[in-house]
Amino acid sequence: MKRWTRPSHPEVSLEAGTTGPMGHLALGLLLAAMTAPQDEPLRPQFHFTAQSGWLNDPNGLVFFKGEYHLFFQHNPFGTQWGNMTWGHAVSKDLFHWQQVENAIAPDSLGTIFSGSAVVDPRGRAITCIYTAAGGTNEASKNEPFTQCIATSTDGRKFTKFASNPVLGHLAGENRDPKVIWHEPTKSYVMALYLEGDRYALFRSDRLTAWIKLCDVMMPGTSECPDFFPLKVEGGKGTKWVFSGANGRYRVGTFDGRQFKPETDPLPSNFGNTGYAAQTYFNDPKGRRVQIAWLNNSNFPDCAWNQQMGVPTELKLVATPQGPRLSILPVEEIKTLRLKRAELADGVYSPNNGLLDIAVRFKAPSAGSLVLDVNGHEVTFDASTSKLRIGDREALLEKRDGGFDLRVVADRASIEVFAQGGLVTMPMFLLPTGKTGLRVKSDFKLETIEVYPLKSARGSKSM
Ligand code: FRU
Repeated sequence: MKRWTRPSHPEVSLEAGTTGPMGHLALGLLLAAMTAPQDEPLRPQFHFTAQSGWLNDPNGLVFFKGEYHLFFQHNPFGTQWGNMTWGHAVSKDLFHWQQVENAIAPDSLGTIFSGSAVVDPRGRAITCIYTAAGGTNEASKNEPFTQCIATSTDGRKFTKFASNPVLGHLAGENRDPKVIWHEPTKSYVMALYLEGDRYALFRSDRLTAWIKLCDVMMPGTSECPDFFPLKVEGGKGTKWVFSGANGRYRVGTFDGRQFKPETDPLPSNFGNTGYAAQTYFNDPKGRRVQIAWLNNSNFPDCAWNQQMGVPTELKLVATPQGPRLSILPVEEIKTLRLKRAELADGVYSPNNGLLDIAVRFKAPSAGSLVLDVNGHEVTFDASTSKLRIGDREALLEKRDGGFDLRVVADRASIEVFAQGGLVTMPMFLLPTGKTGLRVKSDFKLETIEVYPLKSARGSKSM
């Protein structure tokens, strides 16, 4: 069943369209005032959450006038999906977020589904490209799903284009436009989800009219495309990556007209959460920075619901099988690190449960390593070469003669990045009541580094 046909939470749902953005803000502030920022026991401390209400996909990731912008699928009126609006937060370092006024509210073309954002070459304006989900609110009855734009010169107030939509209905519930700048052809390129496992690419000079380039098939995935080039580390040249919402991606070539995949869709995520990931349109450090929604993060009895994943840097690295995505937390996470912890008999017990752990070991022939992180076991079994957390597992292939695990823990998640980020296992896990790290290993670890982290939440942030 499609999510947008599901009725919203009965106690909290209001009909979208009955109030303007100021109404959203007033209600949001009221709900926020009812929740103390620091002391809510389930509130993630360095993963972005909306101050109040529901959140899903990250949208419009863009760096503009000194700030990282994170727009997000938001229900300002309730803790379940509905009334889709672009919520908005800004940050200077990808960790300390300040939520600002909602950016784009529903209208007579529909509620506001996922999309992306670009900055013009002179850095004067942000343009958001989003799906108007016709038929999902009273005001847009009988309208189809179309693609629309809205712009802002100050990064706060957004004005919808008077002649929306810029791309009419094509198929099914076509949605989730991801727009990039393609320098060789000096044009914008849009990846769009059509229906089933079908996507397409389009091009445009000015974002207001689009010409179709080609279809892209993504068996095993749907929704929320991303499309970007990356230099192959340890290999030759640059390749293009096309991904779908569940993280499956194809590596291939793009000449400005055709995307030619050279792989089947490859899995990148083996955890119980992580969906609709998007990368930044631009980054002052020239990186490919990604944020995912940690879907299924249901926080019971909170004024807010769901969380984003830790921001990551993507690379394409040469492997014996060909270029593959490596996904690792961005370096800014180091600014949250406190003094490196000393383990006493393999035990470290901080009281806040926020941890950044890195472990390396040579390929052992038998036995297992168990990292008990906040009461959850992260296990590597040498006889099967499998990494396991709860009911999830992934096969790790030896790299450089051994294995490496990076484990990032917050109040309600453990994200594991293994083998230089070639395997990721993000997990939504509610607190157990236990915090800290207990290490049990049948073999010698080459290194283990444990950093307690400080909260990124302050009176003004998140
Ligand atoms: C993915 C998705 C998108 C859609 C949005 C609606 O989670 O279903 O395809 O635009 O969420 O909130």
